[in-house]
Amino acid sequence: MSARLAGKAALITGGAQGLGAEIARAFHREGAQVFLGDVNGPAGEETARSIEGAEFFLLDVTSEDSWKAVLSAIVKKAGKLDVLVNNAGINIRKDIEEMPGEDLDRMLAVNIKGPFLGIKHALPIMRRAGGGVILNMSSVCGLIGHRYTNEAYVATKGALTLLTKSVAVRCGKDNIRCNSVHPSTVDTSLVQSVLKDPARRAERFGEVPLGRLATPADVAAAFTYLASDEASFINGVSFPVDGGVTAG
Ligand SMILES: NC(=O)c1ccc[n+]([C@@H]2O[C@H](COP(=O)([O-])OP(=O)(O)OC[C@H]3O[C@@H](n4cnc5c(N)ncnc54)[C@H](O)[C@@H]3O)[C@@H](O)[C@H]2O)c1
Repeated sequence: MSARLAGKAALITGGAQGLGAEIARAFHREGAQVFLGDVNGPAGEETARSIEGAEFFLLDVTSEDSWKAVLSAIVKKAGKLDVLVNNAGINIRKDIEEMPGEDLDRMLAVNIKGPFLGIKHALPIMRRAGGGVILNMSSVCGLIGHRYTNEAYVATKGALTLLTKSVAVRCGKDNIRCNSVHPSTVDTSLVQSVLKDPARRAERFGEVPLGRLATPADVAAAFTYLASDEASFINGVSFPVDGGVTAG
């Protein structure tokens, strides 16, 4: 079988570690030219060195100037951007009663303003090339009012679900597909505080009909499929990778 992403140039935000790094490795295995963007320079450089041909750019997704600089550098290098993966995201774990407005602002900036600005500046590049794929990292928390997660995270991931659909319906005519992916709990640095607590760990396992956590490979496989031409008629979907969490 030929490589499923051969010849495609892809930028993955939050690609220094965790799910972003796993998606980058999966894309590379399928023949993509991989660009990583992250605020964490040392980890981003190290991950890029571990993926043949990959290149790292310091990218703060909350900054419009940062997006402009990185996307123009990628266009200079690759001549195009076929796939944008908006993966960078944070969670400041405080319930609504405890969360200062400044923490909410920070989460909105990274989790929503970031993808919004990325899409804004990727669209003209994709239109010039005759199309492209935008994939947004949401969560099960972007589909349901997840009882174990704080309201601010659920609100930002829910907003990303409908940002995705809104771009999908307006930009489909330009051969630009936009989909979101919705993993349940994956063992990464983002959820260490949760998984270290035996009671909360049990809650996360207990909610999954398949009885285990998602793996980074489970998540990366969904991104690879949606980025590939096999998914050429898949547009505007919210794709759960959750072992059935949101099915009940
Ligand atoms: N781990 C899970 O259980 C889980 C489940 C569903 C969805 N997600 C989502 O997956 C995505 C990746 O999470 P992860 O679990 O790999 O977490 P992670 O903390 O390991 O990785 C997140 C990456 O985003 C980067 N980042 C943070 N702010 C940034 C900014 N302003 N600009 C650029 N990069 C920035 C970080 O430096 C880090 O490399 C997030 O959007 C998260 O919400 C995670």
